[in-house]
Amino acid sequence: MDLFSYQDIEPFRQRVEELTALINKYNHEYYMNDTSLVSDYEFDQLLNELISLEKQYPELALSNSPTKRVGGEVNKSFRQVTHRFPMLSLGNTYSIEEIEEFEARTRRLIGDTPFTYTCELKYDGVAIGLTYRHGELVQAVTRGNGTVGDDITANARTIGTIPLRLQGDYPDDFEARGEVVYPFDAFEAYNAQREQEGLEPFANPRNAASGSLKLQNSAECAKRKLMFCMYFMMLPPEVDSSAPNLASHSARLNWARQMGFKVQPYIKECANIQEIKQFIDYWDVERGNLPFGIDGIVIKVNQVALWEQLGLTAKSPRWAIAYKFKAQQVSTHLESIDYQVGRTGVITPVANLVPVSLGGTVVRRATLNNADFIRSMDIHDDDWLLVEKGGEIIPKIVGVDMSHRKPDAQPVRYVEVCPECGTPLVRAEGEAGHYCPNQDTCPPQQLGRLEHFVSRRAMNIESLGSERIKMFYDNGLVRNVADFYDLRREQLIGLGAEGSAPIQDKGADNILSAIDLSRKVPFERVVFALGIRYVGEVGAKKLAHYFKNIDALMAATRDDLLQVDDIGDVTADAVAAFFADPLMRSVVERLRTAGLQMHMAETSVGSQLNGLVFVVSGVFERYSRDEIKASIEQHGGKVSSSISGKTSYLLAGDNMGPEKLKKAEKLGVTIISESEYEDMLK
Ligand code: IVH
Repeated sequence: MDLFSYQDIEPFRQRVEELTALINKYNHEYYMNDTSLVSDYEFDQLLNELISLEKQYPELALSNSPTKRVGGEVNKSFRQVTHRFPMLSLGNTYSIEEIEEFEARTRRLIGDTPFTYTCELKYDGVAIGLTYRHGELVQAVTRGNGTVGDDITANARTIGTIPLRLQGDYPDDFEARGEVVYPFDAFEAYNAQREQEGLEPFANPRNAASGSLKLQNSAECAKRKLMFCMYFMMLPPEVDSSAPNLASHSARLNWARQMGFKVQPYIKECANIQEIKQFIDYWDVERGNLPFGIDGIVIKVNQVALWEQLGLTAKSPRWAIAYKFKAQQVSTHLESIDYQVGRTGVITPVANLVPVSLGGTVVRRATLNNADFIRSMDIHDDDWLLVEKGGEIIPKIVGVDMSHRKPDAQPVRYVEVCPECGTPLVRAEGEAGHYCPNQDTCPPQQLGRLEHFVSRRAMNIESLGSERIKMFYDNGLVRNVADFYDLRREQLIGLGAEGSAPIQDKGADNILSAIDLSRKVPFERVVFALGIRYVGEVGAKKLAHYFKNIDALMAATRDDLLQVDDIGDVTADAVAAFFADPLMRSVVERLRTAGLQMHMAETSVGSQLNGLVFVVSGVFERYSRDEIKASIEQHGGKVSSSISGKTSYLLAGDNMGPEKLKKAEKLGVTIISESEYEDMLK
């Protein structure tokens, strides 16, 4: 290689490295954490750029290039299964020209044999493969990385549209492939419920479907009302595919429908590119009226006999392609910004927009997330904003339509005081959001804390919904959560709000007995119910298990709190600040006097580990990490996330972080294996 070409290639090397790292990160978040950091469109743009660079300069391709794999990584907590037939993905494109090229190439390769295409919807969900033997569902596996996936049979069995036993005639041994989707109505109902329970809502139905399939408890999955759309029948090679039922993709799907699969009816056999384009154009508009999400159209050669002739490329068949829809986008005028105050005081700016129709719904409002978001988009007063609706159900602001920018427009000035109580806002270091620090008397924070306290996963006081709480609040009966336990029957009777009947004797009794019942709610849920910022259900559980009682928790310093597994700086500060507030301390005292559970119930199996502090790291053979942590606590030990002078043992599995190992060695902490741990319990 001479000097010039070396210099020429150098900038591309850097770009290939950059793209590889970025796409791997996005893939990891998407497949492992159900989080999309970029839109599908942006992701595909990056991937295509990398593919073409690697094609041009094959020597630059890295060994961990995302172009070498079909999909993502595999979730460790499920049994992993190797697919009998690899789950390929499809070549995909946003460009009609490329669909035209695909069609022309296919025609050229096939030559004189008459053939057709099937066009069908590209369901926006999670791909799975279902193995049926002798008509019985025996296994369900996610795509995983295309070669190895997660065994999610127990969860799949809970999905109504997955037949457990087939009807009529069926091949003796085959795999039904399809997509698990979350229909919009069920998804919205589920998200609403999550919000009521104080949980973060899912960003879109696909993430929710994926999260649901990975639930450890299949009964929970059953509640989610997922749907399976079958789109492919995979047969072992020895099966004679010339039988009329099997000779074409459309015949296979029709047959599958008779077996009891849900095969969507929106399939069209197309003879030429015009018909394909018609199908694409129709669904680009009509997709807004479907009860579930699609992100494109899949075009397949219909005659199975031709598949072998056309063959495969490295990762996808040559007889099929996916056309992906661009996210729908409009521009509309920003009228004003509301600053909403959440339960924990966090401020969320929300854009009030001139109503505009987008993908079948009218958009009036959209979140602006936080001050950084507004600044990064450089939004000015009176701007026109670009609103997009992609796979997300909720419209997103994606930029400013500069063609409408007024010459004298000023950048948006973010609020400085709480719009509800006038307290100057604060912003914790390293945090994107501002919040109102007045947790004691800022009305939405007070109301939010009351609502959170009674919610199902907290104290579960069923007869108190948000309307009643608002009514009690407006009548001055409750200001903080301890006030619930001082409510008297005569205060409640006759109380009514507009549009609801006044509370009668029986209603008052029901409320009081539900409140009474909450005195038995376990300590870990009491900690959660207090509504400490950043302390969710899991965090509350960890705090409760670690400190065992409220006095120890209230007395904990920042450093003590940091010892708790999964509790980081921000949460530790929030917990310390919460209990430093005299009002919150007095509320806790009143709750204690009211008889709430202020310490852990005895659940221990043994006391072998009393007084010992463990740090758990790596992957174990016989237990999941959570199981090992639970076991430590059940035997009287404590689990901490970081190694310090207080650590008694580092329990080390495979692939443990090198930093932890170094620190343990430096501090002289004893390192033990899984089996040495088991010996300690004997
Ligand atoms: S056919 C070998 N049909 O899109 C053929 N796929 O990259 C395999 N998908 O992984 C796929 N709707 O998860 C096919 N009607 C449909 C589909 C579909 C959604 C997904 C599938 C696949 C990806 C394509």
